[in-house]
Amino acid sequence: MGERDGAERPPDRLHGRRRGRRLRPGRQRLIEERLPALAPALPPTGRHLDPATLFDRPIADLWLEIGFGSGEHLAWQAAHHSGIGMIGCEPFVNGTAALLDRIERDGLDNIRIHPDDGRPLIDALPAESVGRCFILFPDPWPKRRHRLRRFVRPDNLDALARVLKDRAALRLASDDPRQIDWMLLQLRRHPAFRWTVRRAADWRGRPDDWPRTRYEAKALRGQPVYLTFERRRRKPPNAAESGENGCQ
Ligand SMILES: C[S@@+](CC[C@H](N)C(=O)[O-])C[C@H]1O[C@@H](n2cnc3c(N)ncnc32)[C@H](O)[C@@H]1O
Repeated sequence: MGERDGAERPPDRLHGRRRGRRLRPGRQRLIEERLPALAPALPPTGRHLDPATLFDRPIADLWLEIGFGSGEHLAWQAAHHSGIGMIGCEPFVNGTAALLDRIERDGLDNIRIHPDDGRPLIDALPAESVGRCFILFPDPWPKRRHRLRRFVRPDNLDALARVLKDRAALRLASDDPRQIDWMLLQLRRHPAFRWTVRRAADWRGRPDDWPRTRYEAKALRGQPVYLTFERRRRKPPNAAESGENGCQ
């Protein structure tokens, strides 16, 4: 089976670390005392969260970050877009503790956290509810035999395509040439996504509203690449009857 083939069954269980060094008492306290109020319980399968009720005040849009690491990018976006509700997922507890620390320090009230695998969170979001999604330096799985552990793969892209609004941006980054090839392949052949690139500077340079992440700061595998895809517009209802395909 070639690198192009995404048809093998991906693993159900999450690979990767959930815990690192023992948390300092202050961060452990944040996990115990602050996290519960910021971590919405996911509804039973088939039911969805209501983005309007996730936050204590009205929000203009919901943005999603998958694998936020230590949360510096998520916190930056929240601070610079105070009208947006941000929801991030990260199974590594030390990363969640670091984000909670930033939330406390910067007084951010527009962040919610799913401290676990992002896939059930995506399934719990309503269709067409997310205005922007970030997947930055996602997959520490450069080896070919581990490729099905990668987040960017057809089933997860299908799930994201469901929750993203028409024209929503999906931003990705990686410093690993094999990952970059893989992500481009998966996304370019997915019918719901369109690469918005116009010139080389678009993928070589980080836009101003895209702060550097902790992982990027120590990127070792090569030149980071920044990819912005757009969720294609869904077809109008009458196009479905005439048999056109799902995107325009
Ligand atoms: C290489 S790190 C990059 C972290 C951060 N985005 C950055 O750029 O600094 C990849 C992160 O993705 C997280 N991750 C991996 N699989 C995930 C999944 N299924 N759902 C949510 N996060 C995931 C890992 O726990 C890890 O923190």
